[in-house]
Amino acid sequence: MAEGNPFQDALRFERRVPPCALVIFGANGDLARRKLIPALYRLAYDRRLMPAFAIIGISRTRMTDDEFRKRMRSAMEEFLTETPFDASLWSSFGAGLHYVPGDVNDPETYRALGARLEQIGSQQQTGGNVLFYLSTQPSQYAAVARGLGAAGLDKGSGWRRLVVEKPFGHDLTSSRELNRELQEVFAERDIYRIDHYLGKETVQNITAFRFGNGIFEPVWNRRYVNHVQITAAESIGVEGRGAYYQEAGALRDMIQNHLLQLMATIGMEPPATFEPDTVRHERAKLLRAIRIPRPEEVAEIAVAGQYGPGRIGGEDLAGFREEPGVSPDARTDTYAAVTLFVENWRWAGVPFYLRSGKRLPKRVTDIAVQFNPAPLSLFGEDSAAALSPNLMIVRIQPEEGISLRFQSKQPGSGMTLRPVTMDFNYGSSFGVRSPSAYETLLLDAMAGDATLFARQDMVDASWGVVQPILDAWKDTRHDFPDYAAGSWGPAAADRMLARRGHTWRVP
Ligand code: BG6
Repeated sequence: MAEGNPFQDALRFERRVPPCALVIFGANGDLARRKLIPALYRLAYDRRLMPAFAIIGISRTRMTDDEFRKRMRSAMEEFLTETPFDASLWSSFGAGLHYVPGDVNDPETYRALGARLEQIGSQQQTGGNVLFYLSTQPSQYAAVARGLGAAGLDKGSGWRRLVVEKPFGHDLTSSRELNRELQEVFAERDIYRIDHYLGKETVQNITAFRFGNGIFEPVWNRRYVNHVQITAAESIGVEGRGAYYQEAGALRDMIQNHLLQLMATIGMEPPATFEPDTVRHERAKLLRAIRIPRPEEVAEIAVAGQYGPGRIGGEDLAGFREEPGVSPDARTDTYAAVTLFVENWRWAGVPFYLRSGKRLPKRVTDIAVQFNPAPLSLFGEDSAAALSPNLMIVRIQPEEGISLRFQSKQPGSGMTLRPVTMDFNYGSSFGVRSPSAYETLLLDAMAGDATLFARQDMVDASWGVVQPILDAWKDTRHDFPDYAAGSWGPAAADRMLARRGHTWRVP
């Protein structure tokens, strides 16, 4: 597909991968095996890959193309879900996999890569288009960009783009520094920062739901909305990532990126057109309008928690400090909750509560928009209506859908109200599998559509919001652990909402 203006193109709606080569740095790592290769295979399964497409894996391990193919095949057998493994499809897909061993700090690696790209380019007609995917340790991102630049691989006869995985730095300063290093080689428009939450089908549907319908926007503001709760709960612990997670914590790992992007999507203004930059501009505007917490208010608007031993589903679980790779006095937040306000005309005064934690009772991500109660209590003070105001829930995972709670008359004499729910469910409405976030995002990056990628100004704005909280927590002696594995988090998070007369929903 021509690079010109892909957004006018019919492929925008039924998109296929254009001729190109995908180069994965860190190809032997977890992300490539668990997510990227299965996502690419699914694109092949859905006939979205063309013959003019090749994958080149790079990592330090010495292996041949064939050994790489074998490894990826066994990763697929382990991690492919929902789509059947088709051996004949694999034989053509697998033939498009190539491998270049090398250290990212060694200029020879890039020379070898350049030669491989030339050879594959002419064999497979990839048109000189290359998508470089950084799935290495984050500490190597800048080295890869420099290496590509020094070898002249950032330019060529076709387009060159760079996909970067989070974390984008570990605070505002390091994020800006990383960005400076990447932008020394690649222009901002060619840098695709992945926030895989934006690629989730249900998150994209928020945009369709809000701006493809006429009846919701009029009530989507401070006049009707009482508050918003965004929850990303996980029942898993740190799953072998103790060393990374110990340094990161929930605020950095989930809130700074995924949850703030969800907040931007649920709260942004309608874009004038559906084009990458108009949409991203609105998301960025929302993020910039979030009030930066003052140091003295952090204790009121932010809560850190850490799980101790507990039980989920009848299984006894260790506390965070007993996890492998975690030090026995780790001060990491495995749970974080924040209260944020957006300073614009639409949202002024409406609290947005965001929370995320590991080892909570179940895996669930959703956004609950709670509306103001009816202005008069026509059916008696104690009616359920007063206790259960209208609530719209966008269910992101594992169930995917949207529901609306409203009051209804209970059958029988008298006028007793009871809350009922109107439900839209993806599975039953569409009956098709939703593509995974990585399928969507890989395809979009190759097609040159940056709508669902984070721009640097968004990353800066998000770090700006969490930075005062990180700074305050650095000097706070939290009394950890303060919630049991399998519970809904620390009591302080309930107190945070109670200060404004609210309570967390139990999802
Ligand atoms: C990642 C975090 O970005 O998102 C992980 O680093 C977390 O800690 C994961 O488990 C959650 O993603 P998902 O798609 O399973 O909700």
